[in-house]
Amino acid sequence: MKISTKINLLTTAWMIGILIVANIVIFVSFMKFTVSMEEIVLVQRAKDIIDELNTYGTQSNTRDILKDNLTSHTLIRMIRPDGSIEEQVTNDRHLTGLKGKFSKKPQVEQRVIRIRQGEKQVLIVRRPIIINKNVVGTIEISERLLGLELRKDMLIFILTITTILAGLLALLGGRWLANTIMRPIAEMIGTMEKIERSGVPQKIAIPADKKDELQKMAATFNRMIERLQTNMEKQKQFISDASHELKTPLTIIKSYASLLRRRGTSNKEIADEAITAIDSEASRIQKMTDTLLALATLENEVVLEKNVIDLAKLSMEMVRNFTNVYKREITLKVSDPPVIFEADEEKIKQLLIIFLDNALKYSANKIEMEVEKNENSIRIVIKDYGIGIPAHELANIFERFYRVDKARSRSTGGTGLGLSIAQSIVKLHKGEINVTSTEGKGTTVELRFPL
Ligand SMILES: Nc1ncnc2c1ncn2[C@@H]1O[C@H](COP(=O)(O)OP(=O)(O)OP(=O)(O)O)[C@@H](O)[C@H]1O
Ligand SMILES: [Mg+2]
Repeated sequence: MKISTKINLLTTAWMIGILIVANIVIFVSFMKFTVSMEEIVLVQRAKDIIDELNTYGTQSNTRDILKDNLTSHTLIRMIRPDGSIEEQVTNDRHLTGLKGKFSKKPQVEQRVIRIRQGEKQVLIVRRPIIINKNVVGTIEISERLLGLELRKDMLIFILTITTILAGLLALLGGRWLANTIMRPIAEMIGTMEKIERSGVPQKIAIPADKKDELQKMAATFNRMIERLQTNMEKQKQFISDASHELKTPLTIIKSYASLLRRRGTSNKEIADEAITAIDSEASRIQKMTDTLLALATLENEVVLEKNVIDLAKLSMEMVRNFTNVYKREITLKVSDPPVIFEADEEKIKQLLIIFLDNALKYSANKIEMEVEKNENSIRIVIKDYGIGIPAHELANIFERFYRVDKARSRSTGGTGLGLSIAQSIVKLHKGEINVTSTEGKGTTVELRFPL
């Protein structure tokens, strides 16, 4: 069932329910009120009769006094203490069937008599006749509640009609309400279906004046679409960057290969140059594809192979290796070893290599490394006194394939992917990277990992 239909049916059912309860209350109160009004009148009449009997009553005019007080559809009786009827006057034969009753106390009773035409409501009032503090009889007035019978049917009719009408209005109102609520949702569904069909992310138009939950939902949806768009954009950028980066070495390889084909076999010098260039560019492509693959895996990775590692020992090993291979001065300062830390060892190694490699590539002087353990974080600093990074470039260096000086970077053999990988690794470890640099003076990289 559609939500709008559900809302519609529920509101209507609720509305009708409320109306039925309200109508029952109205009906019952009306009946009670009418009967009590009639009762007051009858009690007063009984009192009047007793007064009249006491004042003017004789054996012979009792019947006349009773008759004088007769209104339509009434039965008036005077009952002796033994229950027998002393006098009785009536103008409704249906009432004579009711049994008279002597009562010492005032009494009110409501009875229903069944006759062929249906049921008749009767109100009976009894008042004692007291002479010299002795109850000598009872005046009993029975009267048909004609007004009540008539008004009851009318009331039932009116209440039924209003209930039906209100039900219909509730149904219409519910439909309007459901449509108002559902329209933005339907629009959203429409947009989603369009996205599904075309594969192109699209935003939903949000009316600016509304600040309700639906607007919030649409805004969330739009934010999600925005992120999707950015990601798709990034993906596109990545593919175009990657193919562009691969194109340069491939062009070089191709031109040297054709040079070889044309002249290479006769000229040893050219052949050597071509083979060296092809070899170096091929290695470059190989390195780049390896790095790209590593980056792609890293970005899809969600779980790390975490182990307890000693960062002090790891840094010492790395520094020793780098010093041996590159014959460069690298100092390491570890405050308070061992530095125990839960992390993915291979990835942390890779991270240190990326930063040490950059420091080596982009500087010619000594490199300083520091590992420090604080109360709730670990800090690693790698500092070089090299070419530095211009301030306006600092924000870009973590982008894939980004290199500050393409020409120089080419000679240093970089791909511009190192820092992207580093950032992914740090992110996976919930850490942060902070790079400060002064052009011509040097660069400081600070890594922080929460413990
Ligand atoms: N310590 C540094 N000093 C000066 N410039 C740096 C330093 N580290 C990074 N850069 C600049 O940032 C750019 C991006 O660095 P990144 O490590 O991502 O790429 P790369 O070193 O060029 O290549 P790769 O690391 O992939 O071999 C570098 O090309 C360089 O211009
Ligand atoms: Mg690098």
